[in-house]
Amino acid sequence: MSPASPASPTGEGASAEVARLLDYLKSTRGFDFSAYKLTGLLRRIQKRMRALEVESYNDYLDYLEVHPQEFWPLFDTVLINVTSFFRDPAAWSYLASQILPRILEEKPAPKPLRLWSAGCASGEEAYTLVMLMAEALGEEALRQRVKIYATDADERALNMARQASYDAKQVTGVPEPLLAKYFEPAGNRFVFRPDLRRCVIFGRLDLVQDAAISRLDLLVCRNTMMYFNGEAQQRILARFHFALNRNGYLFLGRAETLLTHGELFRPADLRHRIFARAPGNDVRERLLALLPAGAPAPEGEGSQRQNRLLEAAFEASAVAQIAVDRRGLLAHANEQARLLLGLKSADLGRLLQDLEVSYRPVELRSLIEAVHRTREPAELDDVEWRSPPGGEVRRIKVRVEPLTDSTGAGAGAMISYLDLTESRQLSAELERANQRLETAYEELQAANEELETTNEELHSTVEELETTNEELQSANEEQETMNEELQSTNEELRTMNERLQAHSVELDSLNAYLQSILGGLRAAVIAVDRNLQVQLWSDRAKELWGLREEEAKGKPLLDLDIGLPVAQLEPLLRHVLAQGRNGRGIEVDGINRRGRPIRCFVQVSVLRSERGVEGMIMLVDELSAAGS
Ligand SMILES: C[S@@+](CC[C@H](N)C(=O)[O-])C[C@H]1O[C@@H](n2cnc3c(N)ncnc32)[C@H](O)[C@@H]1O
Repeated sequence: MSPASPASPTGEGASAEVARLLDYLKSTRGFDFSAYKLTGLLRRIQKRMRALEVESYNDYLDYLEVHPQEFWPLFDTVLINVTSFFRDPAAWSYLASQILPRILEEKPAPKPLRLWSAGCASGEEAYTLVMLMAEALGEEALRQRVKIYATDADERALNMARQASYDAKQVTGVPEPLLAKYFEPAGNRFVFRPDLRRCVIFGRLDLVQDAAISRLDLLVCRNTMMYFNGEAQQRILARFHFALNRNGYLFLGRAETLLTHGELFRPADLRHRIFARAPGNDVRERLLALLPAGAPAPEGEGSQRQNRLLEAAFEASAVAQIAVDRRGLLAHANEQARLLLGLKSADLGRLLQDLEVSYRPVELRSLIEAVHRTREPAELDDVEWRSPPGGEVRRIKVRVEPLTDSTGAGAGAMISYLDLTESRQLSAELERANQRLETAYEELQAANEELETTNEELHSTVEELETTNEELQSANEEQETMNEELQSTNEELRTMNERLQAHSVELDSLNAYLQSILGGLRAAVIAVDRNLQVQLWSDRAKELWGLREEEAKGKPLLDLDIGLPVAQLEPLLRHVLAQGRNGRGIEVDGINRRGRPIRCFVQVSVLRSERGVEGMIMLVDELSAAGS
């Protein structure tokens, strides 16, 4: 462990180490891992660290510096490629039955259709799109009109996607009729039809850093956004909005929603995570629709009845209102105003400036003057007022509007006091509740995404385990074959052993036979090899010279200290060996084991085998005691 390393990857100071590690990866590999959610990212990095038995991020960084090729397993581990055909079948079926028809209606033939599978992994999602579009349009129109862009950051996954070859387990999600129609069997695999594959264009595209593909009718980005942190998600979604046509759709994964970008997309079907692109000015249009339309001005002179009706309406208004005429006299105060402002009937007709209402809750005279001057309404929002004195604090909005008569001349001013206390309280509560809801929703969403990513990690671990299992199984099978081979070798050895044993018995009996022949001879028999080393020493030789076979065997004959004058015999032995022919017998004097002089007849013959001359056989026959 390097000196600066903390004890564990979760220990204090680990975040600085992680930042260094991510910076290093960005500067050397150009890949920005900092866009990924930290918890998931750390889990994946730690997985690599465990595999390498590295304890801290600093050590792992050292390792990466020394072993640059480690980037690839790390990259593989971080980019989880879990995918399948028709993943979340209900969502795909909704897309096929509800969304694709809308897209096709919007874009009638022969207009081109552009789709994008972003984060396509090994291609299953892109080919699912091909199948659905072929079903919706027919194959000919598909070939002519449809382009499906399929991109991923992982080149290895893209290569698999380009090959379009899947095993039986991988195609389990494809409904049987579609499998038969769009795949060609190849051994125990299924290959997506090459003629339809041409409408898919695969390419490497990093969603965090690269520009999006544009003018799209459908953008499928499933189970990929959830790996990114909020900031990266926002940037990508803004690009997606830009990339889609006015009536385009965005199809996300089961655990993904658009928390922060409600204004860019609106749900087409929330349950299946399909969103429609919101046009840029949509929000403004909706706001305009909410604004009140200008009310037409009343026409003609009001009859007395109408006046009474107007007065009654004024009186009954839920909003406190007073009217001040051009001379500054209080002309009207409805019931709400009388209650709220403590006005009495006697106050009507008095100068406003003489009444408390002219300066409480707000200074009215300057406002009224401004309204007369500009002929524009004026208002004061959120005025705090304790009424009656000692009562509870109320929040009031005061609006002053110019009044004109039928000729358009200024007739006075109307002052409305809107009591906002309750609505402000309610909206504050609502806001708090909304915030709580939003937080809860965000937490839920984060938990959901976390769950889904963990799920995918588990899935990928299961796949890894399955591979390990398969490897173990194959190692097991190999062991089993080796075992069988060993067993058969064992049997062969046993047979050989039995045969050897039989030979040994045979040899023993031959030996015994030879011994009995040798024992039956009067002469001593000595066999030597080409180096004159003793190979055979018969009992009679032992009897004559007093040397046991085990003492003589393997020794040079000429070195033996016996009564036979071997030095005299040497020329004869060498001659026979050189000629390869039996020699004539010679007589020599010797001394037997008892020290008695004897005369011996020695005959040397060639010892020959199929390999040639192997040595010599000496027959030494005692003629008589020397001198007797
Ligand atoms: C879990 S797979 C989802 C595959 C497919 N969309 C699905 O839902 O079945 C996530 C894919 O996102 C890709 N990915 C991760 N980071 C990426 C990035 N920055 N840019 C592009 N693709 C990325 C991974 O390589 C992986 O293939």
